[in-house]
Amino acid sequence: MHHPKVTVLGSANVDLVVRAEQMPSKGETLIGKTFDIFTGGKGFNQATAAARLGADVTLIGRIGDDPFADILRTAIDAENINSQFVRTDAESGTGVATIIVQPDGDNSIIVVPRANMRITPTDIQNAADSIAKADVLLLQLETPIDASQKAIEIAKANGTIVVLDPAPARQLPSSLLAQVNILKPNETEAAVLSGHTVLSSENAITAANALRAKIAPDGFSAVVITRGEHGVLLSTPEECTHIPAISVDVVDTTGAGDAFSGALATALAKGSELMDAVKYAAAAGAAATTVLGATPSMPTQKKIDAIQPKS
Ligand code: RIB
Repeated sequence: MHHPKVTVLGSANVDLVVRAEQMPSKGETLIGKTFDIFTGGKGFNQATAAARLGADVTLIGRIGDDPFADILRTAIDAENINSQFVRTDAESGTGVATIIVQPDGDNSIIVVPRANMRITPTDIQNAADSIAKADVLLLQLETPIDASQKAIEIAKANGTIVVLDPAPARQLPSSLLAQVNILKPNETEAAVLSGHTVLSSENAITAANALRAKIAPDGFSAVVITRGEHGVLLSTPEECTHIPAISVDVVDTTGAGDAFSGALATALAKGSELMDAVKYAAAAGAAATTVLGATPSMPTQKKIDAIQPKS
């Protein structure tokens, strides 16, 4: 039997999460409702989603030499994620995120990447075998671009599918985008990368088509724009399809995009058709919004089965 393999190059953070009635205004002090410390980081969240959904996962990253790193190492082991290439960096702290979650589940996040931004191309070279042997390489943008570039080069040379979740939003070198098979931005990221505002279905299609012209034309070639309550837009050379959102009781949207990307990578690694993989990922993203916290909300197969519409 084929064991789906996903290698994730990405961030691992500790999230300091406050639930509050509203965001404070400038100069205002508010009393919050709850405080929690969760594991997070887009890379670790996505790795966790992939591992919970049945992939053999290797995480490439850096954490500090501090108590937050201990929390992350315990969590990485608990999820059965291969941590051989998660390096301890004695000269930097572990990445942290401060997150405010409002009653409607919307969140505001400030990330301080710290050790995550010290991953080097040499770290990637050391993990070359795990990228070459993976079915899918999954990346985000909380780690250095030169490291991503190196990882993508290794993937392309070995037939590994490259999935990029371009979060948080930033401009990217065209040479990097040109090697990505599947680009999965949300509306903000799609606007930054394409130069087209994404506020309606029409301009989502315009942005998706513009982005598709920038990514790899070979093998899988797709732009998947996640639009929250407006669903998902899948753009391939053959089709442009709107997939409606699944309605759930939203608690916290933090990590929903990570659940989507981790599930998408896993489904592709298992050999699913692209459309099926995107529908599966949409169900994973919806499931993640029903649980507080980023890593804790990464769904299991059972959770996805409970909410995925039967086709
Ligand atoms: O996508 C959610 C994640 O973004 C959080 O876990 C936080 O750590 C930031 O990386």
